[in-house]
Amino acid sequence: SEDFFLEYQGLLLPRETHCAESLNFAQEFTFKDDDVVAVTYPKSGTTWMQEILPLVLNGGDLTPVHTVVNWDRVPWLEETRLAKIVDKLTSPRALVTHFPYSFMPPSFHTSKAKVINVIRNPKDVLVSSYYFHQMANFLEDPGSFDEFMDKFLEGRVLFGKWTDHVKSWRCAELGDRIFFITYEEMAQDLPTSIRRISDFLCCSLSEDVIHKIAKHCSFESMKANTMSNFSLVPKEYMDSDKSPFLRKGVTGDWKNHFSSEQLVRFTSVINKELEEENFSLPWSL
Ligand code: PPS
Repeated sequence: SEDFFLEYQGLLLPRETHCAESLNFAQEFTFKDDDVVAVTYPKSGTTWMQEILPLVLNGGDLTPVHTVVNWDRVPWLEETRLAKIVDKLTSPRALVTHFPYSFMPPSFHTSKAKVINVIRNPKDVLVSSYYFHQMANFLEDPGSFDEFMDKFLEGRVLFGKWTDHVKSWRCAELGDRIFFITYEEMAQDLPTSIRRISDFLCCSLSEDVIHKIAKHCSFESMKANTMSNFSLVPKEYMDSDKSPFLRKGVTGDWKNHFSSEQLVRFTSVINKELEEENFSLPWSL
């Protein structure tokens, strides 16, 4: 697994897209007050936010989502790509990051940059990640679902333990700089979710624009958009014949994968780690 992972202050990151220089670049990155950063544990709605944010920030103008690939449109703070394209970003800029809160750079704390934290039911995160490890050739083979579940629960996966990540952002004292939303809320009612996001970002959008954005950000529409569906990534890195990046886009797919024993094991570990800090989730596991 050392071939696939880079270890950075105890956090495992994929070597393919991260290196010492990119991590230094992230630490020295200068946040601006009008930046917005979507914070996600992997497989929780990152790509979705890379689609929604430019549309919300540009009054529903489809040009960015039709002409710029998502990893350049809303780049990852920690990835190698940022240094190459940062000068092309126009304000208000949108970024994404998988960093836990304690990894954010100094300028983040002194700026007024806003944060949108998307969380997803960890059972569905595990399933999505399992398929992603099968199709991404720059990640180690996940082994059996049962083995991968153990790795996930022990935090021997990209960006560490799900519970640590979620707790770090939920407990960050960022006041009105942070907005929390779940993948499940977005899946249930995308127009309302987009309205809440645009209100948080102080972008006033008409109902027509909200519905236009929601239509464009549906799973089917994003799956058909080559700028957003990762089909431009060469097959040697991501093999969509094994599993497409935009795989199912539903809530509750865990029910097709968890045995009753695995459900008990999974929920007891996660619940115990959340109870330790008297921390509750917006839904029950
Ligand atoms: S990554 O690798 O961390 O950037 O992955 P991330 O984008 O966070 O998560 C990928 C999952 O999000 C689903 N997705 C969507 N679901 C519903 N609607 C839309 N528009 C959408 N866009 C992305 C994607 O399909 C992955 O989930 P699964 O369950 O594997 O389908």
